[in-house]
Amino acid sequence: MTFKATLFAGAVALAPLAAAADDLTIGFSQIGSESGWRAAETTVTRQQAEARGFDLKFADAQQKQENQIKALRGFIAQGVDGILLAPVVATGWDDVLEEAQEAEIPVILMDRMVDADESLYLTAVTSDLVHEGKVAGEWLAAEMDGAPCRIVELQGTTGSSPAIDRKAGFEQGIEGHDNLEIVRSQTGDFTRSQGKVVMESFLKAEGAGNICALYAHNDDMAVGAIQAIKEAGLAPGKDIRIVAIDAVPDAHLAIANGEMNATIELTPNMAGPALDALQAFLQDGTEPAKWIQTESRLYTAADDNKAVYEEKKSLGY
Ligand code: AHR
Repeated sequence: MTFKATLFAGAVALAPLAAAADDLTIGFSQIGSESGWRAAETTVTRQQAEARGFDLKFADAQQKQENQIKALRGFIAQGVDGILLAPVVATGWDDVLEEAQEAEIPVILMDRMVDADESLYLTAVTSDLVHEGKVAGEWLAAEMDGAPCRIVELQGTTGSSPAIDRKAGFEQGIEGHDNLEIVRSQTGDFTRSQGKVVMESFLKAEGAGNICALYAHNDDMAVGAIQAIKEAGLAPGKDIRIVAIDAVPDAHLAIANGEMNATIELTPNMAGPALDALQAFLQDGTEPAKWIQTESRLYTAADDNKAVYEEKKSLGY
């Protein structure tokens, strides 16, 4: 068996090159490049396909569901062997998933869920998105230890499963802690630029000294918000505690510099497990579990974030 080093297979790992079924053509409908995490997922998906000798047809939807539906129809017309779909929003997929099913092309969801019957896709490779939010809420509740805290929330893309689930999870995490109150909650669309703009509006509306914590549905929005907090003359990570999700290198650096407090890791390697499941299914009909869950690890200032930052950067993240 031949092995090739790949990035982000957990941390660094070796992936077997496919002995058979190495002539597969896979369509990948990616949302866009709204965040550092998303860019890394695209890189890893290309690497994982290449390591297996698969031909990857890549379509960037530029944040639009209509572009994703068009791309899926294109893949179906080309007769690809399988489709990877990172769905921008949760609803509106039934028709195109049914078309893929009629054409006998398995679809695997990556990193986000859809509101559709599970028979319409082969499996979903995602984290537990509710759990991630809950971990963030529980971390903040422990950190505040009963002290009053007015929280602002930067939501992800409206209608996307991580925005819905991470919001619900955080609310579960702070439930029963009457000292904690979410005073503002708005979408920042998972981008740095919107994270900054919306944080500026929160600071203006609430008054700079009246916000105790920021919960952002991803690190990129938190990094944008850090800039806004600094420009308002406050110390991010101290005057305003910050917890977010993804664990991209810049978040580790911000924690190491004391400008952010916690992040929950989301691996960009969804494609490894997705392509393994697809290959096994195409080779001998092995049915994967409907949900292949990736890990969610909490990083805080107690971790050596400088070292993790350097390790992730050295892997090309
Ligand atoms: O669906 C995963 C989320 O989408 C990531 O947390 C975020 O950074 C991305 O854009």
